[in-house]
Parts: sequence; structure tokens; C-alpha cells
Amino acid sequence: MVDVILGLQWGDEGKGKIVDYFAPAYDMVARFQGGPNAGHTLYVEGKKIVLHQIPSGIFRENKINLIGNGVVLDAVILKKECEAVSSFGVDYKKSLYISERTHLILPTHRAIDRASEAAKGHDKIGSTLKGISPAYMDKTGRNGLRVGDLLGNDFQKKYAQLRKKHQQILDNFSFNEDISDAESEFFEALEFLKSLQIVNGEYFINDAIANGKKILAEGAQGSMLDVDFGTFPFVTSSNTITAGVCSGLGISPQKIREVIGITKAYCTRVGSGPFPTELNDEMGEFIRQSGHEFGSTTGRPRRCGWIDLVALNFACMINGVTQLVMTKADVLDNIDVLKVCNQYKVNGKETTQVPFQMEGSEVVPVYKEFPGWKTDITAIKDFKSLPSPMDIYIKYINSALGVPVRYISNGPGTDQIIVAL
Ligand code: GDP
Ligand code: IMO
Ligand code: MG
Repeated sequence: MVDVILGLQWGDEGKGKIVDYFAPAYDMVARFQGGPNAGHTLYVEGKKIVLHQIPSGIFRENKINLIGNGVVLDAVILKKECEAVSSFGVDYKKSLYISERTHLILPTHRAIDRASEAAKGHDKIGSTLKGISPAYMDKTGRNGLRVGDLLGNDFQKKYAQLRKKHQQILDNFSFNEDISDAESEFFEALEFLKSLQIVNGEYFINDAIANGKKILAEGAQGSMLDVDFGTFPFVTSSNTITAGVCSGLGISPQKIREVIGITKAYCTRVGSGPFPTELNDEMGEFIRQSGHEFGSTTGRPRRCGWIDLVALNFACMINGVTQLVMTKADVLDNIDVLKVCNQYKVNGKETTQVPFQMEGSEVVPVYKEFPGWKTDITAIKDFKSLPSPMDIYIKYINSALGVPVRYISNGPGTDQIIVAL
């Protein structure tokens, strides 16, 4: 049995915290897509830690953490992250597993990412520049190197061939940074990677399922950054939605039970691209400051805006969301009037559907207003004690999305979560 936790917006919904919260009820946590573009924040013993590649179940005892085949893996970042978690006493040699089909991010992928983004001029995606898109392009272009290749005799030969192809691409971009230090660091990290538990991920996970184990699949990014259904081309390069769980771990759709979708009580986006409910005013700045909305991976200020039920409805449909977690509700504690977008006006025409292309069209959000709760909710432990304006706000979201908000997160702390009735 597999349950899924994924983000329904443009990323950073609080997946790290929520996966860590749910992990004790599971035997295995598995990342199915994305790479170190992700930054999942957790608090362990009161200390903040941001995970980029390791699944967010790593701090829970006796859990298996699997990096699935759908992920693109940067060995250098993984090595640093393993060192970081081990300083908390985590025995990653025992609890971390990596699929042999997982594709590797090479130093040249990062260089190509930088060169191609720089060449984009005004149309920059705002990539995290971690080499994600070039690595996935080499996967679909059937050139990529996989973790399992490290165990063969001809890895150096395969690397040299791909390195040559990459050099041609870099030459076309007139890219002339020296990446030799990055390459030595990469080869050193590959030796480290070889010392970890490399498995045939699809048999590994299906055997676990057959033995009655409970698996939690952890998404990265968010549905609106999905390569097929997000705000293309301002998206990431993987399928961030539930469908990605099947291809990114090698499991069948019948094995999936609950799909737990996470949304902030408002909305953020980092990087370029359409964001209909964005607030380019004092309110946006207020939310950014009270929510500490600065990127976990790049430190960039996140763009902030009101919750967008048109996009959320779309995300619930595409993912088959069965329950919702609403995070960062406390960030709205001091706002007089809250707005909820329940329709768009696209070029003057009202719609409740996400249009094919938002760029180039005028997309104006239509809002319904709600009174703010004006109460500090950060210490509240039970649903009944939540202020009544918040109850009204949540009930509206429940009915508009047709999916219940089952958990409300009211602070970054592991224990700041309220189970809805
Ligand atoms: P992820 O990428 O989805 O895991 O999210 P990030 O870790 O990038 O960003 C979420 C940020 O919000 C982190 O700094 C969390 O510590 C913080 N956070 C998570 N839940 C809450 C919450 O309910 N309230 C507040 N104030 N912060 C939260
Ligand atoms: P988590 O898992 C927020 C955004 C980037 C950029 C676009 C493409 O922490 O929610 P890429 O590096 O994939 O080429 O960037 O996607 N992006 C994210 N935004 N959270 C993330 O991950 C993101 N991963 C990528 O900012 O706009
Ligand atoms: Mg993040």
C-alpha cells in the first residue's frame, strides 16, 4: 500500500514538515521525482535542516528511505547531505537506499543549465540551476548515466562520451568556465555513492508492498510546476503529480491509496512564470515577511499572493487528491480581510478552468472576501479551539474543492499541526 504526499501549488507548501509528521506511521518513505532543486525544511531537535535529495523520513527511527528511479541525483549534494544528517545521529548507511535506475546529474549538466538559462535573456525560467533540465533531457534523449552504471566496468568510457557531447553544447553557448574542480569533487562523491545501498528499486518497493509494508511517496516541487500540467514553459522537468509516483518508483496505480495534497493557506511561487493571485503590494510583502518566504534552496524571495482555488481545483483533479493539508495558516493570523480566488477572467471571460497558456493572456483573479481571524493560532492544539472565522474560511475551501482539509499546520514546529474533525 502506497500513500502519496505532494504539493498542489508552485512548490514549498511544507512537504518536508508534513512528510516528517506522517513518517512514523509508515515503513518506507520514497522520493519519486525531482532532484536537488527541492528544498524540504524540517526541524529536528529544534534545529532547522533542509533536505534536497534525501527523503524526509530520514530522521524517523527504523524507516527505510528510498531515492527512486524518477529522481535525478547529484552525488556531491547527496554526500554533503549524508554528512549533515549523520551529525544528528542518523545511520544513513542503514536507512538510505538508492535505485540503480536513478539518473546522475553531472557537473556539465549544471554548467549547461547555467549557460542555457543565461542565454534566455528576458524569458528566464528562474531555474535553481542544479542541472535538473539537462539531466532529464539526457534521460529522455537516451544519453544519461545511471547510478547502476557506476557498478559496471565501462563507466569511465560512458562518461567520456557524454562529456564530449556536453562540451559541444557548452561550446555552442560560448561557455568557458573552468569546471575541473567540480569534476574532481564529482568523482570523489561517486566513490561515496558506490558505498551506499544501491538496489533494484522496483523489486525492492514491490517486495515491501507484497510483505504488507506501508510506503509514503514524497513529492518534490508542486503540481503547477509539473512538466505536462504546470504553467509551461515555466515548470520543472519532471512529473510532479501522482502519475509520477508510478513511473518514478515502478509501482502500479492500484497500489496507491491516499493522495494527500498540501496547500498553503495562501500561495507562493519562486522563479518566473504566471501567478494570477500574486500580490505586488504591501500585503504581498507582509505575507513574505511573516511567512519567511525566502527559497530553501536558493534563498530567493518568494512571490506571494492569495490562495488560488482555480489552480487548486485543477491540481486536485489531476492528482486524485483524497485529503488536504493546509499549511502556514498562522501566517494569516493578523490580516483583516482575506481573499480567495474562485474564478479567473481570461481576456475578459469568466472561467473556473486553468487556461492552456496564461502567458500572453490577461488573467484576472475574481475574489471572494472573508474576515480574518485576527488571533494567534500558533499554540492551538485542537480543531474546536480554532477561531470561528477560520472555520468559515476552511469550510469554504472544503466545499469549493470537494476534498476535505484534514490537517491544519499552524507553525513550522513538528508538533504544530491540528487534526480537523
Ligand atoms: P517544501 O519544499 O514543500 O518542503 O517547503 P519548504 O521547506 O521549502 O518551505 C516551507 C517553509 O515553511 C519552511 O521554512 C517550513 O519550516 C515552514 N513551515 C512549514 N509549515 C509551516 C506552518 O504551518 N507555519 C509556518 N509559519 N511555517 C511553516
Ligand atoms: P520544493 O520541492 C519551489 C522552480 C524554480 C523555477 C522552476 C524550474 O522545495 O517545493 P528547475 O531548477 O527545476 O529547473 O527550476 O521550478 N522550482 C521550485 N520552486 N520549490 C521547489 O521545490 C522547486 N523546484 C524547482 O524556482 O521556477
Ligand atoms: Mg522547498
